[in-house]
Amino acid sequence: MSEKFNALIINQSDENFTREIQKIDKNFLKHGDVLVKVDYSSLNFKDALILKNGARLVKEFPHIPGVDFSGKVVESGNSKFKDGDEIICTGMRVGENFYGGYSQFAKVNGDFILKKPESISTRQAMVLGTAGFTALQCAFTTKQTREILLLGEKVNDVIVTGASGGVGSIAVMVLNKLGCNVTAVSGKESNYEYLKSLGANNIIKTSELDNEARPLDKGLYDGAVDTVGGNILSKVLSHIKPSGIVAACGNASSIKLNTTVMPFIIRGVKLWGIDSVNASIKRREFIWGEAAKLIDFDKLEKSIKEISLGELINVYPNMLSGKTSGRYIINVNK
Ligand SMILES: NC(=O)c1ccc[n+]([C@@H]2O[C@H](COP(=O)([O-])OP(=O)(O)OC[C@H]3O[C@@H](n4cnc5c(N)ncnc54)[C@H](OP(=O)(O)O)[C@@H]3O)[C@@H](O)[C@H]2O)c1
Repeated sequence: MSEKFNALIINQSDENFTREIQKIDKNFLKHGDVLVKVDYSSLNFKDALILKNGARLVKEFPHIPGVDFSGKVVESGNSKFKDGDEIICTGMRVGENFYGGYSQFAKVNGDFILKKPESISTRQAMVLGTAGFTALQCAFTTKQTREILLLGEKVNDVIVTGASGGVGSIAVMVLNKLGCNVTAVSGKESNYEYLKSLGANNIIKTSELDNEARPLDKGLYDGAVDTVGGNILSKVLSHIKPSGIVAACGNASSIKLNTTVMPFIIRGVKLWGIDSVNASIKRREFIWGEAAKLIDFDKLEKSIKEISLGELINVYPNMLSGKTSGRYIINVNK
């Protein structure tokens, strides 16, 4: 493959960062052993941070960001993949330490990717992307870890924070599909109807939880998915009923957590960290294999904005200032 193709390149000169769509060829792609013709990528909060200034995650410039992508293998030096295989790549430091998916072709370590299940398309894989994969991990943790792995009581009432974001909105949908009564916490009233359509039974304004938590408050929820951290996570922890699991994956509000040991030692609450980046391939295969059963893509489609690589350059600052909602997918061939 010798022809040139488009990629979004971020570069650094002193304190200044530039982002441009450039024509490159295959020789530019220096990592990995599997060459993929990319169909779609996606925009996650981490991508937005990297697009701004590398977020201290990118060590070398020029760099191709994009932590997620899906597409078809066109050349493989890895025995696990052959030409024509459709694959999914999320996390594994791709788009950070390694060149990512904001490009029409990507080269990646075959140990980082998995074959796409036939039950979803490459577009649907990126409608989910890291956000969806994380939401599925969180929902399984909150619901099934307690019920199946810990042989605990049924999880009925759950709360999801940052509910209209990429992770939050999909967590609302999945937990509803798993039979939970879902309370969504959101700062954007304009999204309340949409959150109800995804499966939220109740909605709480973010500001109602954004104040100092008591060590223990009224037990209201059997479990939680938290995407925001800070005061809101402290408050959620104080409202969890005995043996509940809080799956904490994000810091959209704050990296800080001011809490006490009381929820943990009096109610046996579990704070369960979620890391989507380094999840094993085995776990990835399980979770992606469940996606089609738990996700109503028609419903999700209402919140999907499909944009080009060029449009992405204008959109990412809105995500950093909290003005976006739902998922952005990038059609790199648009
Ligand atoms: N651990 C992992 O592996 C992993 C994987 C993916 C993402 N994450 C993290 O999870 C978080 C969510 O990711 P995402 O892709 O869903 O981001 P996103 O689409 O930007 O959604 C974040 C949501 O959080 C809420 N929010 C934003 N700023 C807030 C603030 N200051 N206070 C309270 N709520 C606020 C908003 O929800 P409302 O509009 O509904 O209020 C926003 O839509 C991020 O911190 C991200 O880095 C972690």
